[in-house]
Amino acid sequence: MIKEDEYAKRRTALVKKLQKHSVTVFFSAKPKQRSNDTEYPYRQNSNFYYMCGFKEDNAALVIVKGEKKSKTYLFVQKKDELLELWTGKRLGKKEAQKVFDIDVICTTDTFDKKITELLQSKLHIYFDFSMQDERLDKLKKLTSHLGSHENIAQKVGAQRLCKSNGEIKLIKKALSITKEAHHLAMKKAKALHTEGELQAEIEYVFKKRGAYNDAYTSIVACGNNANTLHYIKNDEYLKNGELILIDAGCEYDYYASDITRTIPVSGKFTSAQKELYSMILSVEKEIIGMVKAGVMRSDLQKKSEELLCEGLVTLGVLKGDVAKLIKHKKHKKYYPHGIGHWMGIDVHDEAPYKDKKGKEIPLMSGMVMTVEPGIYIGESDMSVPKRFRGIGIRIEDDILVTKDSCENLSQDIFKEIKDIESL
Ligand code: GLY
Ligand code: MN
Ligand code: MN
Repeated sequence: MIKEDEYAKRRTALVKKLQKHSVTVFFSAKPKQRSNDTEYPYRQNSNFYYMCGFKEDNAALVIVKGEKKSKTYLFVQKKDELLELWTGKRLGKKEAQKVFDIDVICTTDTFDKKITELLQSKLHIYFDFSMQDERLDKLKKLTSHLGSHENIAQKVGAQRLCKSNGEIKLIKKALSITKEAHHLAMKKAKALHTEGELQAEIEYVFKKRGAYNDAYTSIVACGNNANTLHYIKNDEYLKNGELILIDAGCEYDYYASDITRTIPVSGKFTSAQKELYSMILSVEKEIIGMVKAGVMRSDLQKKSEELLCEGLVTLGVLKGDVAKLIKHKKHKKYYPHGIGHWMGIDVHDEAPYKDKKGKEIPLMSGMVMTVEPGIYIGESDMSVPKRFRGIGIRIEDDILVTKDSCENLSQDIFKEIKDIESL
């Protein structure tokens, strides 16, 4: 769990970047309707959560910055016995005062009145432009006369780039659960019948170990299904002789893990699968070896494209001169995605890749990123030797950037052929 004083430190750091005479508003996430009167499980808005750690809906965090001082307000739902009977316990104002180190706790029903008061004689308003919310529409109308409207998400995103020790601990915890799930998948795949069954085994581990949410919808893709990058139907049979691409990671106390392993249904790789897999694994390791503070993510991307293209030529998937193939982007057909992304509260962490001037942000100590090269060869790609058709392989680890190198936070999750086969 992130300690209360860390949230206070995050707010203090943010306040330093705000203009004087400003009001900043963060809203909690809206519950999402699934259909008719059923809802998706509630998950707090990441930026709101990052700034205060409050998990309930119908809440708002307001930071008022004056000439010298700032004051923070948290709006929480009123206690309501009848509603709590249906939707669960609420903390309420009194308890929130005990738990949160915030200047003023109010109830949400007073928000409209209070925000009008707080906005008086202010010049600037900050809010999250990406939220689609009628509360935000109301706020925009209320503040249309103000000198500036700025997107707070960019400032929070910049803060979210580098992780604290507390955050890294939670990512490690998420990964320890995800590891158990992937290892169980390696053990069980042979005995199971469908992708969905395998998904259930993985997510059973998540829940059993206290990770009640997935960081994203699991991909369990057998054979040619792995060539659909966002395959989430997971409803087909596992076929002997094929590979299963499993991209699944739990979220633990609001922190993500994001792991892909590609394993054989039968427990043994065929020779064609082995050749392709070994090539991708060696590229993955080489790219991880490059990760350290000061390196550009675009250099990792470039290198991964060169290495994978070279590997594809060696295996006879692509033909011709590597430099020319890259120049004409021929490798993109088989490696169409990025080498990796920032990860944290969100699996694709909402933190910037470029600075305000549009310049790429180099890797910094404390960042967490994925490294995830992959090759995808469609079953009907006649330009490729038959033995490689219908194979999709990705290997993905979660890497902490350090000053002089990096730490592979998921290094214990098996990815060597002999280790996977041993399970
Ligand atoms: N699981 C999503 C991704 O790998 O980016
Ligand atoms: Mn990823
Ligand atoms: Mn992934």
